Amino acid sequence: MGYTRMSAAEAAAMIKNDETIALSGFTPNGVPKAVFRELSKHAEQEHAAGRPFQIGIITGASTGQSVEGDMAAAKAIKFRAPFSTNKDFRDCTNAGEIDFEDMHLGHVAERLRRGFYGEIDWAIIEVSGLEEGTSTCKAFLTSAGGIVPTIVRLAKHVIIEHNSFHHPTSHLLHDVYEIAECPRRLPIPILQVGDRIGREYVEIDAKKIVGVVECCIPEEARAFTPLDPVTEQMGHNVADFLVNDLKRGIIPPEFLPLQSGVGVTSNAVLEALGQNPAVPVFSVYAEVVQDSVVKYMREGRIKAASCSSLTVTNDTLKGIYADMDYFKARITIRQSEISNAPEVIRRLGVIAMNTALECDIYGNENSSHICGSRLMNGVGGSCDYERNGFISIFTTQSTAKNGAISSIVPMCSHVDSTEHDVDVIVTEQGVADLRGKGPLRRAQEIIENCAHPDYRPLLRDYLKIAGKGHEPQHMRSALAFHDAYLTKGDMRLTEF
Ligand code: COA
Repeated sequence: MGYTRMSAAEAAAMIKNDETIALSGFTPNGVPKAVFRELSKHAEQEHAAGRPFQIGIITGASTGQSVEGDMAAAKAIKFRAPFSTNKDFRDCTNAGEIDFEDMHLGHVAERLRRGFYGEIDWAIIEVSGLEEGTSTCKAFLTSAGGIVPTIVRLAKHVIIEHNSFHHPTSHLLHDVYEIAECPRRLPIPILQVGDRIGREYVEIDAKKIVGVVECCIPEEARAFTPLDPVTEQMGHNVADFLVNDLKRGIIPPEFLPLQSGVGVTSNAVLEALGQNPAVPVFSVYAEVVQDSVVKYMREGRIKAASCSSLTVTNDTLKGIYADMDYFKARITIRQSEISNAPEVIRRLGVIAMNTALECDIYGNENSSHICGSRLMNGVGGSCDYERNGFISIFTTQSTAKNGAISSIVPMCSHVDSTEHDVDVIVTEQGVADLRGKGPLRRAQEIIENCAHPDYRPLLRDYLKIAGKGHEPQHMRSALAFHDAYLTKGDMRLTEF
């Protein structure tokens, strides 16, 4: 049978004010783009006609400009979860216009199944191909796994975007699997990074499919800013630290799978590990595969990668599609509740490496909110990995904004991963190994090894005025660094 073919504008016109839409995709690849490009125009027209139009958007992770950027600029997002890297979205959220739940990415499918996001009116998913059946349809996902099996099962209606930019064999990279709800949940049987436990396609109830939109739209992932001496130094510091743990026998000789988060620094870390001959050939168990992973896979430095998204540039994606026989044996794209599952991360012994905005002298970490109030991107999947990693590492440049901000502070202005989940902090200055140390020894390591020299005297002064206690704090001065930045524009002007 043939499903109804419709234009993106016709599909967008079916979506009503106050409805909730769940999407395929993950940071930002695999997200449906054609319908949203029309939906933001539709929202603007509705607003111009004096009618309200705002919707809820639930995704696997961040999307791109076509989804949350343009929709936020059109004032058309009422609620959003779980992560975003878009500036327009960030500005609207920080202006208090959008109700945004910043959520662990591994928990989103569960949140949906338990009904916390209400009824899902629409699922819109991007596919590279369809096998159209009378009762069920087999849909082939493109460059991301995200939360698709859950949303097509829960949604009242499904719109399919068939994006011919993707190769029709993209499904060969996928392992589609949805976990059952408690108490019927079974162990996730992944024992090796590349183990396949599900199917290559998503099954959709054919009755729910209201239309198929044909399009050919490239992905919206951007290339990373090139490395500079500071990010390169951070990458080398992480690589040297891991080599040392390997020599000490903490990391076994065959090495352990690595997870590396999003951003410039994470890219620098992967580059340093790929280049370091003392690091054995390794595998990646992460939520995103970036360009550097594909590069080192081609060079034989990375043997296998499991992810929820190929967050790669279009050239790299085309390269994978052109070499499918090579990559289908090495890359597995999973649902985010599998890529980020504590059980699997812990069993495989994944080494977690993510980036913080700031860390405090006791090891608490903030990756999501600037000076307490302002959202940056969100926690993403960082805490899923850090809480369960074999070694939990956070990297951060010791300063930001030309030295006006110290990334090592007396107390974090917002906490994402706590001191109990952070093993190691790395800046371009050096490494603080917090394992097996109480608060005072941690503070000493962090200040002397990681803080920028401009800020070490201030941090030592803070420790003195903090006085005695298991984890001494001086309540009035704990956020004095942030106060100095907000009132004087420079944390170096802090007075306790
Ligand atoms: N206070 C205020 N601003 C800060 C800051 C601080 N303590 N530390 C960094 N910044 C600013 C930088 O100046 C930069 O600003 P700009 O964009 O105006 O130049 C911006 O934050 C990004 O910092 P950068 O040093 O370029 O780091 P990055 O690209 O590696 O990103 C995070 C860092 C924390 C924003 C990013 O890693 C993130 O969103 N993490 C949370 C999600 C996550 O970890 N997911 C992992 C699993 S996918």
